[in-house]
Amino acid sequence: MAMKVALLGCGVVGSEVVRLVNEQSEELAARIGTSIEIGGIAVRRLDRDRGVDPSLLTTDATALVTRPDIDVVVEVIGGIEPARSLILDAIKSGKSVVTANKALLAEDGQTLHTAARTAGVDLYYEASVAGAIPLLRPLRDSLAGDRVNRVLGIVNGTTNYVLDRMDSLGSGFTEALEEAQALGYAEADPTADVEGFDAAAKAAILARLAFHTQRVTAADVHREGITGVSSGDIASARAMGCVVKLLAICQRSEDGESVGVRVHPVMLPVEHPLAGVKEAYNAVFVEAESAGRLMFYGAGAGGTPTASAVLGDIVAVCRNRLAHTSVAEGAHDTGLPVHDMGRT
Ligand code: HSE
Repeated sequence: MAMKVALLGCGVVGSEVVRLVNEQSEELAARIGTSIEIGGIAVRRLDRDRGVDPSLLTTDATALVTRPDIDVVVEVIGGIEPARSLILDAIKSGKSVVTANKALLAEDGQTLHTAARTAGVDLYYEASVAGAIPLLRPLRDSLAGDRVNRVLGIVNGTTNYVLDRMDSLGSGFTEALEEAQALGYAEADPTADVEGFDAAAKAAILARLAFHTQRVTAADVHREGITGVSSGDIASARAMGCVVKLLAICQRSEDGESVGVRVHPVMLPVEHPLAGVKEAYNAVFVEAESAGRLMFYGAGAGGTPTASAVLGDIVAVCRNRLAHTSVAEGAHDTGLPVHDMGRT
């Protein structure tokens, strides 16, 4: 029997997920042992051409996520509501959930995890941080036997693109931001990118997974964006052998008793591994006690790379359903509290 996927949203990422599922259907079936089918797609308006089979479209998202034949619900509409209610409805109906919704996970991930754990279903969200880069499952699973002390990340492609263009081509801030928007990297409202809200949400998710604590939310992240960074600041940094990067910094306190998270522009020496990250690429540098220093690098934004991460999660949750196991990602909570990490 095919695994049936319901999609909530069919924008840049959603339409790419549909295309990849259709194009790779035989390969995916061979990998999983059964086929994956798109069973329905919830959209706000039916009158737009999205390049998908129109008979799959519906405006009744609630009916779709509770439909008995649906196995997996994929949420790519973003924002807090109605995404949260729909995800909770899906979980209560026994569906596995894949989401790319960083804002919701950062604000209320605990509610989603608790619901998933109670229902015994999967909640996976690799695409919510750093697009295509396999990062969240390595942090949760591969490093589960290690102790992570610090995570430093370039996790917003738009701001990295803007800072890189200002540095390497001498572009103006507005011109570079317009380019990033035209390339499809920026959020619908690019304030979320340039003011650091997007990076703060991702930093909160990273901290929760790296330090195995459910307590970090976006509101705990000390945040400063890049709107105050001038061409003069970038030139001064360059004169000192540095580049300016917007970094997400998640850190265990010295006594190991709490975690702190912040996002702000940093002058990085050009020899630092994160300094060479260009254009809209993302990279995350992890310092773990036994593994040492690790670097995750790749495309952090854009429809196709992000759809790759979503599809990877769909495959994982389908495999788990077929094996009757459930691992709600990041659901374990050690209770490690958060400390204020304002700039010192
Ligand atoms: N606006 C985001 C970025 C998209 O620029 O990184 C990917 O989350």
